[in-house]
Amino acid sequence: MKRKLLSALLSAAMVAVLLTGCGSGSDTGSSAGSDTGADAGTTTEAPAPTDDADTGADTSSANAGGSKIGISMPTQSLERWNRDGEYLDEQFKAAGYETILTYSDNDAGRQVNDIQNMLAEGVNLLVIAAIDGEALNTVMNEAAEAGVQVIAYDRLIMNDAVSYYVSFDNYTVGKLQGQFVESTLDLANAGDTVYNIEFTAGDPADNNAGYFFNGAFDVLKPYIDAGTLNVVSGQTDFSSVATNQWNTDTALERAQNILSSYYADGTQLDVWLCSNDSTALGVAQAITSDYAGGNSVLITGQDGDEANLKNIVDGVQTMTVYKNVSNEAIVTLALAKAMMSGDAIGESLIPSFGIECAYDTESYETSEGNKCPSFLLVPSVITKDNLQDLVDTGLYTMGDDGYLKAN
Ligand code: GAL
Repeated sequence: MKRKLLSALLSAAMVAVLLTGCGSGSDTGSSAGSDTGADAGTTTEAPAPTDDADTGADTSSANAGGSKIGISMPTQSLERWNRDGEYLDEQFKAAGYETILTYSDNDAGRQVNDIQNMLAEGVNLLVIAAIDGEALNTVMNEAAEAGVQVIAYDRLIMNDAVSYYVSFDNYTVGKLQGQFVESTLDLANAGDTVYNIEFTAGDPADNNAGYFFNGAFDVLKPYIDAGTLNVVSGQTDFSSVATNQWNTDTALERAQNILSSYYADGTQLDVWLCSNDSTALGVAQAITSDYAGGNSVLITGQDGDEANLKNIVDGVQTMTVYKNVSNEAIVTLALAKAMMSGDAIGESLIPSFGIECAYDTESYETSEGNKCPSFLLVPSVITKDNLQDLVDTGLYTMGDDGYLKAN
């Protein structure tokens, strides 16, 4: 997935404004452009090598006062984190920072190790997407003792050493999924029609997962209560529908069990609400192989992973909630710069992002009563009808086969 990322980023930062509907940028150019060569700094081996493919502690030196940034991503087994890691690494390097980038193979213990190694390498700031938001206490305390500031990236860490949180509005992600089901089936005017639905949520160790599920469930609960939506399996609480590590095979197996237990008699399934694309992939596979009915099932997702975008083109998945993670990296870089320069941080920083974003000091807590100031970007709905919006970001290309590829 190597790409001419740097040049893409320059135009993506502008073009993304189109997708998120904000900012004053009028550049609608594509991602085409020449490599600026800013990635030409020294590249060294990771001090904390991982067995993932794209592990390296790529370091490059430039200005930025010789500051070193530790970027700790959860795993390469889920597509989006590859994009996040790459965007963050490229953008920090382009701004003149040295970087150490690691993936921890969805192993929380290994992530602790990877971050400890970064601290030993003398990083000045940490950007962390936690595997388990509750499992980083020791290393967060070590970071605090070393005076290293921490940005919780995308997923909140339950420790007060976190200075800021950069993410999307996670509750809204779920809400968009629920509202999509509501409007597509016109639930408000369903009369006596009953639609059958099942739910698949995310990893309980990921603080985001509950927000996604609640956002969707809060929209749909009135229809469940009214009998317009019927959860045939009866599984509606988060712990019953959660998927450890957002694993595709785990979601597949649970979906197969539900199909054979509740739908093998020909009961029609109308909707499978999935919190993200990796779980939607497993559910779609189970429906393709194990569902007896002939109707197409409405399946939701999140992330805009290539395999899911293909399924959307093929009519196997219905929608995904897209989060422009290049923009998430841009916001993270701008915030990190402000933190390291000791600038005032708050709402006033947002215009400089050129990206639609809210500064929220109420919604997230790293411990009881301890609010974490958060910069929350805006997600959007992608269906078969607006796939071009993804191409317009400059981050995807439409292939000759009619399917999108991440650049
Ligand atoms: C969440 C993230 C989602 C999804 C999921 C699985 O924390 O916000 O975008 O990718 O993890 O990786």
